[in-house]
Amino acid sequence: MSAPYVITISSDKGGVGKTTLATNLAIYLKALHEDLPVTLFSFDNHFSVDQMFRINGSGGSGNVANLFGGAVADNLVETGEYGVQFIASSGDLHKLRRELDNPALLAKALGQSRLGGIVIIDTRPDLDIFTQNALFAADRVVIPVKDAPSLANCRHIYDFFDSNGLSRRPLRILPCLVDGRIHYDGPFRDPYQLLKAYAINRGYRCMEGYIAKSPKVESLNTNPEGKIYPVLTHGRHTDVHVQLAHVARQLYLGMLDNQQRRLDEFQQNEFQAFEQRQSAYADRRLQIHPNCLVCGRSLVHENHIDPAGYFAQSSDKKILGFLEEECFTKLVFRYFYGARRTIEPNDPTWDLFRETAQRSYFILHRAPHTRNFYQQQLSFYRFDETGLEVSHKVIELQEFEKRLLSKERSDLFPLLERTLFDAEGRLGDTFLILRKVSTDLPEEILYDQSYDQFTTAMARISTQLP
Ligand SMILES: Nc1ncnc2c1ncn2[C@@H]1O[C@H](COP(=O)(O)OP(=O)(O)O)[C@@H](O)[C@H]1O
Ligand SMILES: [Mg+2]
Repeated sequence: MSAPYVITISSDKGGVGKTTLATNLAIYLKALHEDLPVTLFSFDNHFSVDQMFRINGSGGSGNVANLFGGAVADNLVETGEYGVQFIASSGDLHKLRRELDNPALLAKALGQSRLGGIVIIDTRPDLDIFTQNALFAADRVVIPVKDAPSLANCRHIYDFFDSNGLSRRPLRILPCLVDGRIHYDGPFRDPYQLLKAYAINRGYRCMEGYIAKSPKVESLNTNPEGKIYPVLTHGRHTDVHVQLAHVARQLYLGMLDNQQRRLDEFQQNEFQAFEQRQSAYADRRLQIHPNCLVCGRSLVHENHIDPAGYFAQSSDKKILGFLEEECFTKLVFRYFYGARRTIEPNDPTWDLFRETAQRSYFILHRAPHTRNFYQQQLSFYRFDETGLEVSHKVIELQEFEKRLLSKERSDLFPLLERTLFDAEGRLGDTFLILRKVSTDLPEEILYDQSYDQFTTAMARISTQLP
């Protein structure tokens, strides 16, 4: 699926016919090629787009503000009149305006979409962050100008392109609202010729033709029903009809000429980033120890992971694995919280631990001064989510403990053997960090965002360990 061809209608001045142009061009382009998806939206909060295209009773799928909040553009699109798709306008853009400063957000959102065809963007008459985003994403920028001052204002758009290292090639001036009745003596016979000459003098490229000022077209916006009617359906006998058709045709041919889309690179980058994320996840998934790190029961299967309570990783990232909830909880109670009796899963203490564990990171590490081979000491730390130490306990490692009449091997040993011990059963500098996982979907912690969070916490904690 190739990226859509983006046409942005922009000018630094209001009342030059931007919205009229954007809405009508959508219809003319659709009329040129019925199978061509045409999507329209506006960062101007006049709701003209909605008034012209919304089919009664539809709506409610979101609006243009959502384009900046990570929504998938495809999900925001409504099917409108005349076969044109549109995204609803927003009256709340001013709230977002202060938060946004990245002109590439829209390019990303559209680049990842499956909209295809043509996207037409109407903008407000200034260079706010929404206009900047619309310019940044554009394959073609149509700049309506109606007089010399509005032409002088174009400089801001050109400056935006220059200062962002963008080619000026997409930019085109289009004289609009030109009064055909005015005639001059001298080399420029009418305002249209004059504007073109001005533009060319400044090195600006123009579209062919212009859009004339027409009382009929103006009246399509102002009628008792409060509807806005298109020129194609209600102004067919006007010059503007012919002029709009001509402009639409140029834009269409421009699209066919232009195989490389502005959004291609965003699609490409995103795609690569997506693939990298996928393969990083797959690598982590492959690295997972197949068994519970304490009891050795098989947990990790090719297509799923059995319910587990905790995820553990060694600080050198060589060992990744899961622990059954019961195994870890019992181990903590017995060795670090010094419980005299066995705590069972239905004990309230167990619930309390499970509850608070969700906000904790647990660390197993060689105790600061342990050197003696025969008497190693192990530190057990608990940190909260902000990386603050909550508790620290040091225990002597004893492989066997006397229990009643028999000797029993400590559960800590299998865990340490699978994680921190070297071949001689010695603790090194590496530590083990443990985190509660969602029981039903333990692998969730390996997903991008959660894993990022986890490694960030690990880095923060490691700076606090001796
Ligand atoms: N070709 C035209 N002839 C006459 N009036 C027009 C024409 N195009 C737009 N208008 C009118 O000019 C005014 C401004 O148009 P609009 O499209 O809203 O401009 P902008 O979006 O640049 O502010 C509106 O009242 C509109 O009806
Ligand atoms: Mg407008």
